[in-house]
Amino acid sequence: MPLVSMRQLLDEAAKGGYGVGAFNVNNMEQIQAIMEAATETQSPVIVQASRGARSYSQDRFLYHLMIAATEIYPELPIVLHQDHGNSVATCKSAIDMGFTSVMMDGSLMEDGKTPSSFEYNVKVTREVVELAHAKGVTVEGEIGCLGGIEDGHGAGGDGLEHLTDPDQAVEFVKQTGVDALAIAIGTSHGAYKFSSKPTGETLKMETLIQIHNRLPGTHLVMHGSSSVPKDLQDIINQYGGKLKPTWGVPVEEIQLGIKNGVRKINVDTDNRMAITGAIRKVFAEAPEKFDPRDYLKPARDAMRAVCKARMVAFGQAGQAGKIKPVSCREYARAYQS
Ligand code: 13P
Repeated sequence: MPLVSMRQLLDEAAKGGYGVGAFNVNNMEQIQAIMEAATETQSPVIVQASRGARSYSQDRFLYHLMIAATEIYPELPIVLHQDHGNSVATCKSAIDMGFTSVMMDGSLMEDGKTPSSFEYNVKVTREVVELAHAKGVTVEGEIGCLGGIEDGHGAGGDGLEHLTDPDQAVEFVKQTGVDALAIAIGTSHGAYKFSSKPTGETLKMETLIQIHNRLPGTHLVMHGSSSVPKDLQDIINQYGGKLKPTWGVPVEEIQLGIKNGVRKINVDTDNRMAITGAIRKVFAEAPEKFDPRDYLKPARDAMRAVCKARMVAFGQAGQAGKIKPVSCREYARAYQS
């Protein structure tokens, strides 16, 4: 089937009461890892690319790898999503290339670093909603700012500096018409999210629940949702890495989020760690090897295992077959009416 709109997958997830992992990619092996995990678990798929990933893969390579995924796995509904679009132009270029979903992250200015005003965020997000919906493409917005930096994008700092205000979230959805809303509840991008297991003081699940109660029809998105598992930290460090002790978002907290309106869960760091650990292991144990396949295959397998575990935990496993694809053109008509 062709790439599908993210709105369709999130609407289905809301009906079924589950969440869908959105995994970041830069190259062929990462796309293959996600697709293998999805086929083994029969899961709907959201693949996302940051601006950095689009530039790394020269855009067209990434796009055609995704088309290859739709050809090889025609039974799986697959979304191609722009992660953290920094401007209307970035989102437009993704839509023009064939992405079926875009994030307009107007919580930051176009530099991708400076927190913006509410008015600026509404203005640019509304603009993207208009041009995306005309083509049936889904739009995710962000209110409040995540902590940390990913691929050069982010407000930095810890996740508590720019938390989402529930009143603003309600107003933002009303004024922009976004399909999905990323909220800041204490998480941040990258490996260093929390210096100990998060509590209600550092990971504000209560705020998430409040927002869901006020916006029951809006699909919520949890960014910065890698769990940074200890076993992945240990493999990296065992084979010469230098990660400092750190904590991510426990899977049980994500599951609580899913019970309260979270339909998209962004995961990048865990996969990066799985890949790095597997490659370090081969380099340490078999330094005579120099065929990239000797370390890229274990790396791909390690990422597949993480994606598979998340797909099961988020409840998307077994759901792919229930989704009958609706074209973006039909979505465009529906948005119009
Ligand atoms: P992690 O760094 O926790 O994997 O978050 C990724 C993310 O939110 C991408 O937008």
